[in-house]
Amino acid sequence: MYQNYIGGHWVNGSGNATFASINPANEDVVGQVARAEAADVEAAVESAYRAFDSWRLTPAPRRGEILYSVAQILKDRKEELSQLLTREMGKVISEARGDVQEAIDMAFFMAGEGRRLLGYTAPVELPNKFGMAVREPMGVCAIITPWNFPIAVPSWKIFPALIAGNTVVYKPSPETPILGIEFAKVFEEAGLPPGVMNVITAPGIEAGQALVRHAKVRAISFTGSTQTGTTIAGEAGKLGKKVALEMGGKNAITVVDDANFDLAVDAILWSAFGTTGQRCTACSRLILQKGIAPKLKEALVERTKKLRLGDGLLETTDVGPLINRAARDKVHEYVGIGQAEGARVLIGGKIHENGGKGFFYEPTLLDGVAPKMRVAQEEIFGPVLSMIEVGSLDEAIQVNNDSAYGLSSSIFTENVNAAFAAMRDLATGIVYINHGTTGAEIQFPFGGTRGTGNGHREAGQAGLEVFTEWKSIYIDFSGRLQRAQIDTDKLVNG
Ligand code: UN1
Repeated sequence: MYQNYIGGHWVNGSGNATFASINPANEDVVGQVARAEAADVEAAVESAYRAFDSWRLTPAPRRGEILYSVAQILKDRKEELSQLLTREMGKVISEARGDVQEAIDMAFFMAGEGRRLLGYTAPVELPNKFGMAVREPMGVCAIITPWNFPIAVPSWKIFPALIAGNTVVYKPSPETPILGIEFAKVFEEAGLPPGVMNVITAPGIEAGQALVRHAKVRAISFTGSTQTGTTIAGEAGKLGKKVALEMGGKNAITVVDDANFDLAVDAILWSAFGTTGQRCTACSRLILQKGIAPKLKEALVERTKKLRLGDGLLETTDVGPLINRAARDKVHEYVGIGQAEGARVLIGGKIHENGGKGFFYEPTLLDGVAPKMRVAQEEIFGPVLSMIEVGSLDEAIQVNNDSAYGLSSSIFTENVNAAFAAMRDLATGIVYINHGTTGAEIQFPFGGTRGTGNGHREAGQAGLEVFTEWKSIYIDFSGRLQRAQIDTDKLVNG
């Protein structure tokens, strides 16, 4: 049984209840996990609150050293954590290794922030006076994360929160609780003081709601569904909390007639069907200029046919399962919706039985999709690619931007003018040129425009904004009263 980590102790849920974590490739139980109740959330927040004062006063370079140790332990445990990740979440093992690597990268990056956390000074308007702005931690931060990147995404939140001097209550997805718990063990081993990082695991909304509503939680960082995210934002907004949301995407790749054909084919397959389409950044719309469209569709069908579905632990598997039965059924339902709207299934469109075990769906290409169809507008979060034809680059950009979401977009062109126009006009938080829609690196801001979020970014130095607030400090060493905006007159007029 996997326990929760509260105040540096490993504990059962207060009701002694557990829930199971299931391997989506074969429906085996990966492990039983403690189920946190509202009382456990209370205990976790109180622990984080008590730990805050000494953690915020721990010099940031020292906090950074602990994060360096975290990075090193993650490196040492990379293969073992990757195997667990595949068993719990289903993504193929090479991608699981990438997920863990992203956490390692983020740990090293944020450890370095321990010697930066840059503020600034600026000139002040009166003599013998000094002004500076410094970053201060917020206090207790709630981190609520999804199952699709069960270690990378939490690392984007927990590391900046900790380096800035905050304490954390982390609630991993109930689909991948064991990885969340193993992550906590890494922090414990690295010597993070008790209470600075706490982990609670629970299915359902009760624990998450208690966490969001808790008066001592000052900031909430959430990645997940639009429905849950907007609910959290509503609750947090009423209570005056800082909240950062990272939600849906409907990312598109545009391929214009002059594109590098083979490169585009490789990138489309990877972005659409990698992680079984379950990335926020997955490509779910393909916008094709008419000249290149017929040949490109043909090549995609041929290549899609060859993709091997199966258990992600086998190095030969290309596409793993969906996270659970409901996710798979939702994907199938959307294919039906697309067909009813007039789209044609070129390949796929079926549940893959896999001998009756696991939640597999055949990678699917939908042709004849119009930009307003539901399959072109709504996030499906599975291996389904909706293909839309356009006449020109301008039309492609317009279709790309006609979305409730704005995370990632991509264009394939060999024309430098088209590339620069696209960089300027593709209205998403991330833009790729001659590269698919997935594969962001941690040193740059990650996040989206419109309904993808609420204006925040994760990763890079931008990732510190959510977890810090500014303190402006004025030091007057003139020894007399100097009134800002008023005594400045005397300087000018004597
Ligand atoms: C996500 O799907 O929420 O850019 C994260 C990428 C990965 C992270 C995806 N580095 O696709």
